[in-house]
Amino acid sequence: MTAAPLTPLDLVGNTPLVELKRVPRPDGIRLFAKLEGENPTGSIKDRIARRLVDEAEQRGVLRPGMTLVEASTGNTGIALAMVARQRGYGVRIVLPEGVVPSVPQILETLGAELVWCPPQSGTKGAIEMAERMMLEDPERCFAVQQFKSPLNIDCHYRTTGSEIVAALDHADVLVAGIGTGGTLMGVGRRMREAYPGLRVVGLEPHVGEYLQGLRSLEDAFMPPLLDLEAIDGRWIVSAAESIRAAKLVAETEGILVGISSGAALHVGLKEAERRRERGGNIVMMFSDSGWKYLPAQPWEAAKADSPDLDEVHWW
Ligand SMILES: Cc1ncc(COP(=O)(O)O)c(C=O)c1O
Repeated sequence: MTAAPLTPLDLVGNTPLVELKRVPRPDGIRLFAKLEGENPTGSIKDRIARRLVDEAEQRGVLRPGMTLVEASTGNTGIALAMVARQRGYGVRIVLPEGVVPSVPQILETLGAELVWCPPQSGTKGAIEMAERMMLEDPERCFAVQQFKSPLNIDCHYRTTGSEIVAALDHADVLVAGIGTGGTLMGVGRRMREAYPGLRVVGLEPHVGEYLQGLRSLEDAFMPPLLDLEAIDGRWIVSAAESIRAAKLVAETEGILVGISSGAALHVGLKEAERRRERGGNIVMMFSDSGWKYLPAQPWEAAKADSPDLDEVHWW
């Protein structure tokens, strides 16, 4: 008997952890990247989109005919649009102006309804707008609430973190971007159980810069899921640094990763420098693939050190 055919939702998770052997690094340092771009919509957010929808269906709060509502700079919206198509829901995404142009194009192609909010309203404003929509029409709208739901952390604890632990005997450092904080909290907790002494490091953009998906914690919004006590370090990374490192991955390894993956490599290499004498294994979350960023011409903008660099949500 042949196996039951897969559906797109079966393809979520179980992404590869690859060793980057061609990126220049200090002797004794091994770099590992979790390639989340291998998920069906090309980002880590497929994991939480599937989990949050599954759970809401089980609790009976999400019912046929309803519309998923969420604030997102791109990846969560795209992931929710896929899950919504698979399960037959509507989907409405509150999107700040300034996202790379492919994001609204992909969302519309997947049948999502877009609601724009001004960039100065920030993550907080976008979340509030999504919550207001839900309150105005609770019978038909379901607020997904990736920023608030503890399932976001639990999903990364059980899936992303466990997959890394199954693939690697030992790790010394975990590097992940901070958006909702779900990845860093969940993966960090699971990896710490397996690798005592693990250093958990978060990265964030400069104040006022919009690295898509991630926000500076100084920007008046502290993601409720993020527990600063649970992390050992934070790095601030600029858009130009992130883009240059993403280009380095492309040039040395031949894989096209997103800009936040570049930021993770940039920080991974800083951590490698700190461990130069000791060596060690550094795991970096490569949260999405790079295709959707190309129309925004990141390489050219970084080369020219264009002032527009900070106006775009890069991850
Ligand atoms: C490309 C990318 N990297 C990293 C993150 C951060 O992930 P988290 O929300 O789990 O903190 C996001 C969040 O949207 C993202 O889109």
